[in-house]
Amino acid sequence: MFEQIERVPGDAILGLIEAFKKDTNPQKVDLGVGVYRDSQGNTPIMRAVKEAEARLLKNETTKTYIGSHGAPAYGNVVLPMVLGENSPVLDAGRASATQSPGGTGALRLAADFIATQLPGKDIWVSDPTWPNHLGIFPAAGIKLHKYPYVDADNRLDFDGMLSALKQIPEGDVVLLHACCHNPTGFDLSQDQWKQVLEVVRERNLLPLVDFAYQGFGEGLDEDAYGVRLLAESLDEMIITSSCSKNFGIYCERTGCLIMVAKDNEQMENVRSQIAIVARENYSNPPAHGGSIVSEILSSDDLIPVWRDELTEMRDRINTLRRDFVEALKPYGLDQKYACIAEQRGMFSYTGLTPEQVDRLRDEFGIYMVRSGRANVAGFSHENLPYLAKAFAAVNS
Ligand code: LMR
Repeated sequence: MFEQIERVPGDAILGLIEAFKKDTNPQKVDLGVGVYRDSQGNTPIMRAVKEAEARLLKNETTKTYIGSHGAPAYGNVVLPMVLGENSPVLDAGRASATQSPGGTGALRLAADFIATQLPGKDIWVSDPTWPNHLGIFPAAGIKLHKYPYVDADNRLDFDGMLSALKQIPEGDVVLLHACCHNPTGFDLSQDQWKQVLEVVRERNLLPLVDFAYQGFGEGLDEDAYGVRLLAESLDEMIITSSCSKNFGIYCERTGCLIMVAKDNEQMENVRSQIAIVARENYSNPPAHGGSIVSEILSSDDLIPVWRDELTEMRDRINTLRRDFVEALKPYGLDQKYACIAEQRGMFSYTGLTPEQVDRLRDEFGIYMVRSGRANVAGFSHENLPYLAKAFAAVNS
């Protein structure tokens, strides 16, 4: 039977990891997969995480299953991190947390929930969006459509987005990026979130907000503006949150599906269905990442250590964004790439064409996604001159 199976190309983002490793160019630069890098190009374990793990090792007493919703302690710290310390949504008992294997796991839970419990609803995603969105929802049997997000001049096309949202059939699901839009780095302002809310309300849409980069844009609370606005203003929404990036625990697969319902009764009904979906996918989530997060967020001495480290990472990325645009000045390219300083999060949609991206890889050993997405965390003050020279070469 297997003789009929065709070989397909690997994932475009994850494939870059292998390709980069194999490159022998001593000046090579990895701007591919979305992981944070320090000035040496490493992805270190955060100090707060190391300390939390030491405490867990000492105090852990069992490796038994943690249940389909995961550890309650994890949900208890993630909910206020996402929805706010004094959230009226939490006070009303309208939100449920389910620990998931990464943000991707939360997306798949959401997709299976929509497919089984809300059949006939299509999903609308930004064009462009994280390529895995394009796979996850159709894999669950959901029809996927796109709304515009970026214009031909590589700027946020908010008018195009809003008028497209106004045409979405009533009751469909709309996927929004809470902050640090992946792949573009173009985020909505507070006023734009309010306008989106109005359309979501008018069209009775179900928002699914992907929140993978909390803390990497403007700050932990600032980045949650849109999520909290929608959760507090609407009866229902879905949030897929991730601790992979803001705790730097990528391989521990630590995500959370948050379901917001009209009241506690409906939330419990929805929650019971999510447990089934989780059970049928992987039964119980892995425990370790969630234990790290709950250890940190419930330890008065570790919270400030973690917050400071996150601030350091965010500030470093934002400084490098500005400094890269400065480094392009001598080549007369600072205006052309000014958007890099304005975008937020790990990613920049640079506007480079696939052919220019190929040249960067082949001639300079600079690796990024062919859509023109660069992981800005791969910039460093050491490689900025080299990157600027390479950008200039592929623009000439
Ligand atoms: C990315 O977009 O690079 C990250 O979210 C990693 C991934 O799984 O694609």
